[in-house]
Amino acid sequence: MKFVFFGAPGAGKGTMASRASTAFGLQHVSTGEIFRAAMRDGTPLGLRVKEVIESGGLVSDELTIGLVRERLAMPDVSKGWLLDGFPRTIPQAEALASFCPEDYVIDLEVSDEKVVERLSGRSMCRSCGRIYHTTFMPPAKPGFCDDCGGELYTRDDDKETAVRHRLETYREQTSPLVQFYEQRGTLVPINGEADADSVWAVLKGVIEGLLAGRRNGSSD
Ligand code: AP5
Repeated sequence: MKFVFFGAPGAGKGTMASRASTAFGLQHVSTGEIFRAAMRDGTPLGLRVKEVIESGGLVSDELTIGLVRERLAMPDVSKGWLLDGFPRTIPQAEALASFCPEDYVIDLEVSDEKVVERLSGRSMCRSCGRIYHTTFMPPAKPGFCDDCGGELYTRDDDKETAVRHRLETYREQTSPLVQFYEQRGTLVPINGEADADSVWAVLKGVIEGLLAGRRNGSSD
């Protein structure tokens, strides 16, 4: 099964996609994480995208589409995938529909106030990428990852000016995809306002239903 996890910056896409990946054995592919790993490692890709990401803008469609196309051709995604952070423009959505069409788009709906609250307290593990929040998902030992002991850091694009730019970019370039996917009949809206465990409980049930529907459909 192929899922797109869609929503505003800070909606909880990474958090929920990570839980769904573990629960359903689907490969989690995050374009933001691919870019951040490249920046961490100082690769040519990382150097190319650093400035635009840190300012809260979008990497070019051409580069991002090429990267996702290559990633979805790898053997580890053959049993299904969860795309997190892609597509976020109409050209990206059209490209995905042409080379690897999605089954469902999970649209995590949250208010602007929640977005700001969540992004202002977020930290991430430098080594494994696990996501934390100072209030909502604190690590057991402040500053260090529960899973691997790695150092936690605040993303450069979580600074106030960059967050504002990311929200504008989302409204202008990414939110039109809601209509795009409504028209394709693949949009599944999920209320993402509640705490993470409550959102996950609803989402897990929805995905189980979609997977069961698919199994029943294919055995008819
Ligand atoms: P990306 O990493 O995709 O950033 P984003 O879309 O802005 O999303 P975030 O990672 O900020 O938030 P999220 O929805 O995953 O929320 P999270 O789970 O972390 O992309 C970064 C940049 O890369 C882009 O700005 C762009 O420059 C570039 N890029 C990436 N893809 C691209 C593309 N396709 N085209 C062009 N450029 C691209 O949760 C947020 C916080 O809230 C965490 O602290 C978490 O612990 C907490 N939290 C989560 N859920 C809950 C809950 N239910 N209750 C309370 N707290 C919660």
